[in-house]
Amino acid sequence: MAHYPAEPFRIKVTEPIRLISREERKQAMEKAGYNLFMLAAEDVFIDLLTDSGTGAMSQSQWAAMMQGDESYAGARSYYRLAETMKQIFGFEYFVPTHQGRAAETILTDLLIKPGMSIPSNMHFDTTDGNIRARGGRPVNLVIDEAFNPKSRHPFKGNMDLDKLRNFILQVGKESIPFGAMTITNNAGGGQPVSLENIKAVSELYHEFGILFFIDCCRYAENSYFIKLREPGCAQKSTLEIAREIFKLADGAWMSAKKDGMVNMGGFLAMRDANLYQRVCNALILREGFPTYGGLSGRDLDALAVGLMEGLDETYLEYRLGQTAYLGERLIEAGIPIIEPPGGHAIYLDAGSLLPHIPHNEYPGQALAAELYLEGGIRGVEIGSVMFAYPNPDTGEITYPRLELVRLALPRRVYTQSHLDYVVETIIRLANRRNTLRGFRITYAPELLRHFTCRFEAL
Ligand code: F0G
Repeated sequence: MAHYPAEPFRIKVTEPIRLISREERKQAMEKAGYNLFMLAAEDVFIDLLTDSGTGAMSQSQWAAMMQGDESYAGARSYYRLAETMKQIFGFEYFVPTHQGRAAETILTDLLIKPGMSIPSNMHFDTTDGNIRARGGRPVNLVIDEAFNPKSRHPFKGNMDLDKLRNFILQVGKESIPFGAMTITNNAGGGQPVSLENIKAVSELYHEFGILFFIDCCRYAENSYFIKLREPGCAQKSTLEIAREIFKLADGAWMSAKKDGMVNMGGFLAMRDANLYQRVCNALILREGFPTYGGLSGRDLDALAVGLMEGLDETYLEYRLGQTAYLGERLIEAGIPIIEPPGGHAIYLDAGSLLPHIPHNEYPGQALAAELYLEGGIRGVEIGSVMFAYPNPDTGEITYPRLELVRLALPRRVYTQSHLDYVVETIIRLANRRNTLRGFRITYAPELLRHFTCRFEAL
């Protein structure tokens, strides 16, 4: 029987949610062109679209916000954040950004020339989109176990070291301005990467003189997985593990809307003084002065507190336990998901659940749409809507290997009864899976189409 961990907090402020009628949900979906991003959030009952910026802040964070210093340059809030940054990440330089993709835009714009490649275990959507927008090629080299939903490999987010070496030798280190690694691997099930693998990847990039950047928005969850699963790491604190990870890299970017426990924020950090200077110049054009990036002083304070709260092991035990509870209950009911449960989300294996719907009719979209119609639950498709792109050489569409629907858990927001409702709704839906139909896309922009495309039910 799945076990639900007691929350290590109690609720002080509430926000009402409501389940509108099935007829109203149907109308809302039609108006939204069947794209769940286009729904009004008020029409959603349980919102598992993303864990990004959707968490609840603590009383300490709200208290810190009152101390925010809104000075344009050199604010107290910046120095408080800089102190926390030094303690956890230890990079020589950093700039705040308003969120993760702002850091990605600046980094990719400064370093990528058309035709260059950026390898990673797997890039998530905005990273992938930013690399393509600069004429670059995002390349995913995760281990094969990541594509077997039933494989219980403890670190399914690991990079395949042979694939990485062969790739570097094949395209040449001159075509790789930097190499990346996403922890945890969001596009592949929220699965962690081992410390041993990060070490080996760092050595490999450095053997070829390639800069190594970590996309670290869920680094705290990843560090706690390392503590639980990696031999020799049980005695280390999560903070110590995090420090070991970042020592291995030349830089990192973070969407702090995840393990930073804030509603808005991010950063780009690095060791190289020259790169930092160029980053500052780009930041001033796009985001703001280097001591605030795109953020208010109070946001910097909330982040300084939130980064430490995100590493708290009592919190992390609850956090990963809550995700595991949702996953184990679905497994008990025979619902195919990516196993083992990841850190921030459960990924329904829509490809296995709906084998009668082919890639080009979007099984993940079919499942996500029906989940909303059935129970007012909003998840997100991570499959061919998000990641099918024409091959730049042949023009042929390359489909991703997995068709998933991610149910992301906002931090410190939903309770066991909310998750039980989600499980019961999915079971009802799975019992009539043969009635689900695919979709056709009627409008889509060239990049990051999942956010704004429109669908027609087949
Ligand atoms: N990298 C990863 C691994 C992410 O998961 C995200 C965002 C970003 C970068 C970009 O950060 O949103 O602050 O600009 N992921 C969210 C999600 C949106 O739903 O997983 P951002």
